[in-house]
Amino acid sequence: MHTEYFVVDKDHPDQGVLGQAAELLKQGKLVAFPTETVYGLGANGLDEKAVANIYVAKGRPSDNPLILHISHIEELKQLVAHIPNNAKVLMNAYWPGPLTIVFRRAAIVPDIVTGGLETVGIRLPDSVVARELIALAGTPIAAPSANISGRPSPTNAQAVLVDLEGKIDAVVDAGNCQIGVESTVIDCTTPVPTLLRPGGVTLEMLMETLGEVEMDPILSGSFELAPRSPGMKYTHYAPDAPMVLVEGEYPQVLELLLKEVSAALTEGKRVGALISGQTADKLPVGTIPFVYGMRENVEEIAANLYLALRNYDDHSVDVIFAEGISEEGLGLAVMNRLRKASGYRIIKG
Ligand code: TXA
Ligand code: MG
Repeated sequence: MHTEYFVVDKDHPDQGVLGQAAELLKQGKLVAFPTETVYGLGANGLDEKAVANIYVAKGRPSDNPLILHISHIEELKQLVAHIPNNAKVLMNAYWPGPLTIVFRRAAIVPDIVTGGLETVGIRLPDSVVARELIALAGTPIAAPSANISGRPSPTNAQAVLVDLEGKIDAVVDAGNCQIGVESTVIDCTTPVPTLLRPGGVTLEMLMETLGEVEMDPILSGSFELAPRSPGMKYTHYAPDAPMVLVEGEYPQVLELLLKEVSAALTEGKRVGALISGQTADKLPVGTIPFVYGMRENVEEIAANLYLALRNYDDHSVDVIFAEGISEEGLGLAVMNRLRKASGYRIIKG
């Protein structure tokens, strides 16, 4: 399959170009497109055959449900059975934006979108390109992250093509995603809303807006518990080489990281290190570093995270050590992805 390539401006996308991509979506084809979080792999969310092709292209297990993306709040009503008050409050505060809300679904939503669940995740993205594309397609768009299942999500069109060129019909390129980690997923079908995946809307923001939020047990790291968000049970975001996450505060985390890196180098291993700007000049010679940003700038770290995890695709390293950061704010989403990428190989300083 030939993958068509469209380029648009992030803030003022050419309507003619977006119209061509929207036409492909209307025909049941697969089109990758940018959002403010990561690139999504879109298909007409009400067309079962089109949605089935998403699972094939990504190699995604069919019980892992997809998020439906809408371009206007009015489109929500037809997709859900009920809009709880908590959800209304969240929509007012954070839509459009990086927040996916789980509702009881309406009958119009195909089983293949929800993985057979009675609920559906809906998101109104902030990205102008995403919203205009969805509006031109005239239908809700089912879109997981546009990566091969298990790999780090793509935050630019090049990363989409590395994984999916020849497997999808088109990609719309509007440059780098601003946030860099996926949307927050919150389940509003429970009496107290339950955080299923931390993301761009932080736990602190949710607490402030709602007063109380439950945390899915999986977020505390007890990953053997049955997850409520089916996507959380799979290994995810993983680079090609095994990764070990070193957690703790500075400077303990630095000391432990240096000890582990040195031991691996002594064993003759090729060693990668995902590190902060603070640590950059402290690594032993021979380490292959990737600096994700300064520790205090968590927005920068989130925006670089998947580039960092994909960086080692091109180096044949035997092991990667990653420096953990604080879980405050967006740090919770960053640490959640690093823990999953490490397959929970974690050491604490
Ligand atoms: O930022 C994002 O959310 C990106 C962009 C493209 O919008 N999309 C994305 O989709 O990350 P995906 O499929 O890679 O992750 C969706 C997550 C999965 O963990 C899935 O299990 C969960 O949302 N999810 C979707 N529908 C759900 C539902 N009805 N109940 C519980 N979890 C759900
Ligand atoms: Mg994903």
